[in-house]
Amino acid sequence: MSLHEAYEADLVVIGSGVAGSYAALAAAELGAKVVMVTKRGLLSGATPWAQGGIAFPVGHEDVEQHLYDTVKAGRGLSDPDVTGEILKESLDHLRSLIEKGMRFDPGLAREGGHSRARVMHAGGDRSGLFLLNFLHQHLQSRIKILENRFVFQLATDDNGVSGAYYLDGSKRVGVVKASATLLATGGSGQLFGVTTNPGEATGDGIALGFGAGCVIRDIELIQFHPTALLDGTLVSEACRGEGAKLINAAGEYFMGGYYPEAELAPRDVVARAVDTEIKKTGGVFIDLSSIANFEEKFPTVFASIKALGLDSRSEPVPIAPAAHFQMGGIRTDSEGRSGVPRLYAAGEVGSTGLHGANRLASNSLLEGLVMGARSAACAAKELEPISTLGIADPTEANGITHVGRAEIQKIMSESASIVRTGPELESGLDRISAIGYLPSLDSFEIENSNLALVASCVLRGALAREESRGSHYRSDFPETSEVIFHVEQSLDGLKTVIC
Ligand code: SIN
Repeated sequence: MSLHEAYEADLVVIGSGVAGSYAALAAAELGAKVVMVTKRGLLSGATPWAQGGIAFPVGHEDVEQHLYDTVKAGRGLSDPDVTGEILKESLDHLRSLIEKGMRFDPGLAREGGHSRARVMHAGGDRSGLFLLNFLHQHLQSRIKILENRFVFQLATDDNGVSGAYYLDGSKRVGVVKASATLLATGGSGQLFGVTTNPGEATGDGIALGFGAGCVIRDIELIQFHPTALLDGTLVSEACRGEGAKLINAAGEYFMGGYYPEAELAPRDVVARAVDTEIKKTGGVFIDLSSIANFEEKFPTVFASIKALGLDSRSEPVPIAPAAHFQMGGIRTDSEGRSGVPRLYAAGEVGSTGLHGANRLASNSLLEGLVMGARSAACAAKELEPISTLGIADPTEANGITHVGRAEIQKIMSESASIVRTGPELESGLDRISAIGYLPSLDSFEIENSNLALVASCVLRGALAREESRGSHYRSDFPETSEVIFHVEQSLDGLKTVIC
């Protein structure tokens, strides 16, 4: 394949969300030459869609309690040491953001699973967008940004990863040769037809990392957000923090019967309760009428409801759970190293041990900041001179032409949704495995093949996890196993690892 463009960098960052942007900024501040590659525009991906804010501990005295809440929600699969480090360090990043001029809204919000109000918002429910715009303002003059470039393959030499190959909108191939490569590509919400994630969330980083030899850990653990509008648009959990109530189609408030904290139960509990009530009564609605100044506090939610022709002030609004967050991902150490030399991962694509089996609300932007900064610092320490790196030619990528994305989503919704069973997972895996691939230079077809790969990992992982834990509920194995284990998948196959 002939190359249309070629760049060199100390660090190539793939993805322009919170983890990638903060990593790029941190690396640039350390003097590294950074190239950021993003497959759509700079403001694409899930971060600008984040309504909930950032759950910083409320000072050092709250770190222990925040750790307790996070680990409790994680249902045994969070790593308390890593979690404690991330939470403690997040306060340094909060201070640094404020010193640089980031403005947060006054006051703190409470969300499900948090024992106190500690979530900081910016621009009401536009926290992710405000944060990202702020980071990009500080970045733009310091690094090279390549938009609308889709990374389809990692470049390698005999010793590890040496950059990334991408396709531009005209199917021309370019490369960034780099001493360090950071995957900050976000999640895989497009596995499901109803998702709070944007169209870009196609599991590209998982597919790239898997192909490069990374271990993919606990990818079967997918968080469903309990309250999305029926088209998948998020109704922030902060609305329930402000007093919104859930009602079933029979007109009953039901959450109190499921959990003492009712609407503020952890997300997996609320999602399953909503799913159960929809199946039992035919629908679930959110009553937002008690929230004072709703329109100012939640402008995005207000506008989305209005766009559906509904009035959130006078009538409860129909909601349902939607695929929201991938808790598992590329296993990394606490500095973001993926185990494959010169390859790092941060943000939703990574699995650090923070989120366990059920991410605590608003902990993900926080993780993106801390792990973005840590990966950048670690990469900057370990840089090898570019002249010593080799770079193998790209090979043709695989794409899916004959099966549309909707078919992959149908398979996943029918087999790996909120309530799972062995036979349904088996059937889903058979259907995904029957999909054929063809060489392709079409980004959409390659995204679909990335999704199919992630789907097969989710299905295999969910079959191996013969228990119910956090977001993963198997009605044929409803108990939580006493043995706590990770499910790890790689080119060598699948294994379970006891914690
Ligand atoms: C929300 O606002 O409910 C989403 C926040 C999150 O997923 O952490």
